[in-house]
Amino acid sequence: MKVLSPLPFAALCLAVPYAEYIYAPSERTLVPESIYAVNGSIRNPKALIGASKEPTVFHGPSSVTLDFEKNVAGLVTIDLNSSASELAFIGITFSESSLYISHEACDATADAGLDSPLWFSFPNGPGNYTAELKHNRGGFRYMTVVSNTTETISLNRVLLNFTAAPTQKLDEYTGYFHSNDELLNRIWYAGAYTNQLSTIDPSTGNALPWYQIINSTDNISLPETVPWWSNYTISNGTSVLTDGAKRDRLLWPGDMSISLESIGVSTYDLYSVRVALERLLDLQKHDGRLPYASPPYADTVSFTYHCHALNGMSLYFTYSGDKDWLLRYWGQYKAGISYALLSVDRTGLANITASSDWLRFGMGGH
Ligand SMILES: *[C@@H]1O[C@H](CO)[C@@H](O)[C@H](O)[C@H]1NC(C)=O
Ligand SMILES: *[C@@H]1O[C@H](CO)[C@@H](O)[C@H](O)[C@H]1NC(C)=O
Ligand SMILES: *[C@@H]1O[C@H](CO)[C@@H](O)[C@H](O)[C@H]1NC(C)=O
Ligand SMILES: *[C@@H]1O[C@H](CO)[C@@H](O)[C@H](O)[C@H]1NC(C)=O
Ligand SMILES: *[C@@H]1O[C@H](CO)[C@@H](O)[C@H](O)[C@H]1NC(C)=O
Ligand SMILES: *[C@@H]1O[C@H](CO)[C@@H](O)[C@H](O)[C@H]1NC(C)=O
Ligand SMILES: *[C@@H]1O[C@H](CO)[C@@H](O)[C@H](O)[C@H]1NC(C)=O
Ligand SMILES: *[C@@H]1O[C@H](CO)[C@@H](O)[C@H](O)[C@H]1NC(C)=O
Ligand SMILES: *[C@@H]1O[C@H](CO)[C@@H](O)[C@H](O)[C@H]1NC(C)=O
Ligand SMILES: *[C@@H]1O[C@H](CO)[C@@H](O)[C@H](O)[C@H]1NC(C)=O
Repeated sequence: MKVLSPLPFAALCLAVPYAEYIYAPSERTLVPESIYAVNGSIRNPKALIGASKEPTVFHGPSSVTLDFEKNVAGLVTIDLNSSASELAFIGITFSESSLYISHEACDATADAGLDSPLWFSFPNGPGNYTAELKHNRGGFRYMTVVSNTTETISLNRVLLNFTAAPTQKLDEYTGYFHSNDELLNRIWYAGAYTNQLSTIDPSTGNALPWYQIINSTDNISLPETVPWWSNYTISNGTSVLTDGAKRDRLLWPGDMSISLESIGVSTYDLYSVRVALERLLDLQKHDGRLPYASPPYADTVSFTYHCHALNGMSLYFTYSGDKDWLLRYWGQYKAGISYALLSVDRTGLANITASSDWLRFGMGGH
């Protein structure tokens, strides 16, 4: 006798409302969706989007730009078909915008110049070669696969291990938004997905290797590029909310105070929020001051970001109802309020003299 599976009915009942708007993938192994451009002699580029069983063959210097059709994040794997000579290399460049597609560089994470490609060599013959963990790329839509030598090299596939929001079941939102305005609906879900991309494994924060070394007045032009790596541990725990997937990949209370409300009503990933807040609280000074950003960013006084961190604690409690947590940090919360009140003078307004406020560098006043 054939037993009817209860699954289709269950799946129907459990379906997330308005799931069709959700950008998050259901699986973590991603293949690019389409080919954006080919430059040079490349046979059968379709294999790189999973549309052919025959490998893609690069004949000499050439490149193919692949399009994920939305921003994604993670670790690249190259599946090499044929043994390549030791002279053969494959480079990968990333870009969020089509304006920055290049066979020489990725879009930037430092304050000047463009980021270096990821170069792969193939010492072990055919098989999978995965980027090092520190080369987790936080946000890109286009990926260009480059062969830079006269060697012939064939690839079966390129894959992306989508590593953002590591503790989430990516497309299972607990809340939803819907209006009669299609554009607004799509914008709301793009925002919810952006918060997922900005939620990362804490060991993959931006190491800021060029912080206070390269600044926006520097002139770094191709072929020179800027190396990058994401191997700085920015918090405890297994997942943490940051300000942005590509940069800065750090904790910034100002960004949290606009992302927490959407997280509360989309993925409800309050764990990653709590980990971030606990890191900020861990960095609180004796006078009650909370940080502008997490290390490796230097300790900087910011009245507004201090208040954003307190606001984040309030929002976390609002969405979680986690009274034990609030009690645990209540003393620190009060110390934070006291610090903020110190700036209020007899006019009843806060007179702010620190530099990193309202992004009005060097300005102060009420
Ligand atoms: C195509 O490849 C050639 C040779 O590598 C290079 O000089 C040229 O700039 C490339 N064009 C584009 C649009 O990437
Ligand atoms: C793929 O690899 C196999 C085994 O090395 C080789 O025989 C074949 O020619 C390669 N395919 C292409 C298209 O290079
Ligand atoms: C590379 O990894 C993919 C996905 O796990 C797998 O299907 C494929 O067989 C691997 N390639 C080789 C050559 O081992
Ligand atoms: C190709 O790129 C690799 C890695 O950067 C480099 O070592 C090699 O010299 C380049 N080859 C050519 C011909 O440019
Ligand atoms: C993807 O990367 C994560 C983090 O490094 C790792 O735990 C996981 O095993 C990887 N998945 C695949 C399919 O390689
Ligand atoms: C940028 O770096 C240069 C050289 O290190 C330094 O002289 C300049 O003051 C820096 N500019 C800013 C805005 O930090
Ligand atoms: C930047 O450097 C390049 C190459 O050295 C040069 O051609 C260009 O004029 C420089 N630009 C500025 C604004 O200094
Ligand atoms: C991160 O990677 C860089 C570049 O390889 C390395 O110099 C640095 O020691 C690494 N940092 C950590 C914490 O592993
Ligand atoms: C992890 O938590 C401990 C105990 O609160 C704290 O001392 C340490 O600084 C934290 N580390 C990071 C990277 O957040
Ligand atoms: C704000 O405080 C600073 C430092 O105490 C003081 O110099 C300044 O006069 C105050 N500004 C106003 C408008 O009261």
